[in-house]
Order: sequence, then structure tokens, then C-alpha cells
Amino acid sequence: MDTDAQIVELDTTDPHALIATAAAFEVTATSPSTHYARTWLQAVEGGEVVGVAELELPLSENTDVAWAEVQVLPTHRRRGVGRALWQAVVERSRAAARTRVGGEVTVDVATPGPAREFAAAMGTVDKHREDHLVADLPVATSPVDPAYEVVTWRGRCPDEHREAYLAMRNQMNADVPTGELDLEPEVLNDERLATSEERLMRAYDVRVAAARRRADGTFGGYSLLFVPHGTDYGWQDDTLVMPEHRGHRLGAALKTANYADLPDDVRLVHTWTAPSNTAMHRTNTGLGFRVVEHMYEVEAPIA
Ligand SMILES: CC(C)(COP(=O)(O)OP(=O)(O)OC[C@H]1O[C@@H](n2cnc3c(N)ncnc32)[C@H](O)[C@@H]1OP(=O)(O)O)[C@@H](O)C(=O)NCCC(=O)NCCS
Repeated sequence: MDTDAQIVELDTTDPHALIATAAAFEVTATSPSTHYARTWLQAVEGGEVVGVAELELPLSENTDVAWAEVQVLPTHRRRGVGRALWQAVVERSRAAARTRVGGEVTVDVATPGPAREFAAAMGTVDKHREDHLVADLPVATSPVDPAYEVVTWRGRCPDEHREAYLAMRNQMNADVPTGELDLEPEVLNDERLATSEERLMRAYDVRVAAARRRADGTFGGYSLLFVPHGTDYGWQDDTLVMPEHRGHRLGAALKTANYADLPDDVRLVHTWTAPSNTAMHRTNTGLGFRVVEHMYEVEAPIA
């Protein structure tokens, strides 16, 4: 598929970029989510795709917001292609009654590219920052506090844990630091979780490690990891320790429980953490993660 070839080619400009695999893109493109409407735009010059944009309109929460991503081939930059794609995205966002466009701007720590300058020229301001970190596997396993046991599953959460897992997922959405971003947290119910699990499993090996307190069976935290099918890396999604279970180093234990279970050919894990999130940042660097990029969440008013 043309679009996929284009995405892979862009990858070569950024050694640490996490690029959607063809399988993940196909799931998103061919089975639309009921919670997000997504549109892809191409800039075409002389029959060649020279730039792409993705527009995502949340439909369930944050219906005043649009999310955008713009990419232009290195050989075709500084000729207004990015601006034209951005303007097309803004037009569509306005037509869908959105009053702000947000996006993630990622810059390599060693060799920052043009993304920040472009985003500023499009009228965005910074709302939040996270570090993008990577760790080479294997990493040393962190022991789990003896008061807890680790429960793991792949893919769909087993029925007997779903209620506790949903409570933790919703706590995560409410608790994760998002700086000055003014966003409603996503609220998951069983049906929404099931649909999301089904879609994700088509593109990823989805792995969850959760901590259960031995004394009363209460779940105290979970860590969620995705390994795109056919790749040699994983990316760390949520890690949450519930407020009354904090202070037992469960975050590190859960993350490393997931890593220890991975096939040997998975060699690298990506994660994103706000520098202000001291507990998680320290956990990550303690495990051997190193900062490779800075990710800025930016937003432009378009009303
Ligand atoms: C960022 C990116 C999309 C810009 O695409 P582009 O087609 O080169 O952008 P444009 O030519 O339309 O530039 C628009 C404005 O952005 C700013 N800009 C873009 N690149 C810049 C650079 N290298 N240095 C300084 N300013 C820059 C300028 O103000 C420019 O206007 P000007 O040329 O009139 O001065 C492109 O470099 C890219 O694909 N980078 C990798 C992906 C990425 O980081 N995307 C942004 C995150 S959504």
C-alpha cells in the first residue's frame, strides 16, 4: 500500500521514532473506532506523495478538540507543503465544530529537527512535555513486594479481573499528569474496553501485569505493554499504582515482570514520562531507560 511505504520512508529521518506498523495502520483505517473519526490527507506533487497528515476527531469526550499530525518528506521541506496540510486539517476541524487543534511534537535530544519551529509557526503553544525513553532488553527484574503477587494476561483481560482492571484503567486516565492540557479523561466501561482489546490484539501482542495483594485479593496496580506483531520492540503504555498501594515499588516490579516474559527477539522498549512525574521518571531511569527525545503536547486555538 502506498501510504505505508511512505510512512516507512519517513522513519529513516528519525532513529527513535515509533512508527505505526502496516498492520496497526490497517486496523485503524479499515475498522473505524466509534470514539474517534480519523481522516488521512496526502499532499501530492507530480503523482508523488510528498507529505501526509492525520486528523483525529474525538467523538465521545473532548468534542471541542481535533488532533493532528503532519509529515513531509525531507526532500520536499520548506516549500509550504506542511503549512498546506496544516491548513487543510484546520479547515476540516472547523467544519467539525472544533475550537482547538492539538498535536505531539517530538524532537531528538541529540539532533533536534524542524518540528518545534514548524509547530510554533502554525500558532501552537506548549501545554505539556514528556520525555521519550528507551531501554535495551533484557533489564534486571525488580522483585515484587512479598505482600503482593503478580497476575499476568495477554490480550483480553480475563472475566474475573475485569471489574478491578476497569477501575484501575479509569483511575489511570484521571491521574496521569497532563500539564496544562485541558482535557476530559476518557471513561472506559466494559463494552468500550472489550472493543478496544479486540482491535488492539489484531495489531499488537498486548501484555498486562497486575499486582494483587495477597491478604485481601485487592488489585493495587497494572502495567500495559504493546509489542507490534512482527517487530523486535515493545512500547510501554500505562503503568499505574493505585493511591493506597503506592510506596512498594510495584511500578518497577510490574514493568519488569512484563519484560521478563517477552520472547528473546524483543530487544528494546519505548516509554514516555513527564519529567515532573518524579516517581515514574526515577523508576524508568533506575531500570536503565535513557532519554532520547522530548515530546511536547502543543495546541492552537482555531475558533
Ligand atoms: C515539520 C514538517 C511537517 C514541516 O514541513 P514543511 O513542508 O517543511 O513546512 P513548511 O514549508 O510548510 O513550513 C511552514 C513554516 O514552518 C516553519 N519551519 C518549518 N521548517 C523549519 C525549519 N527547518 N527551521 C525553521 N522554521 C521552520 C517556518 O516558519 C515555515 O514557514 P517559512 O518557510 O515561510 O519560513 C516537516 O519538517 C516534517 O515532516 N518533519 C518530521 C515530522 C514532524 O516533526 N512533524 C511535526 C509534528 S506534527
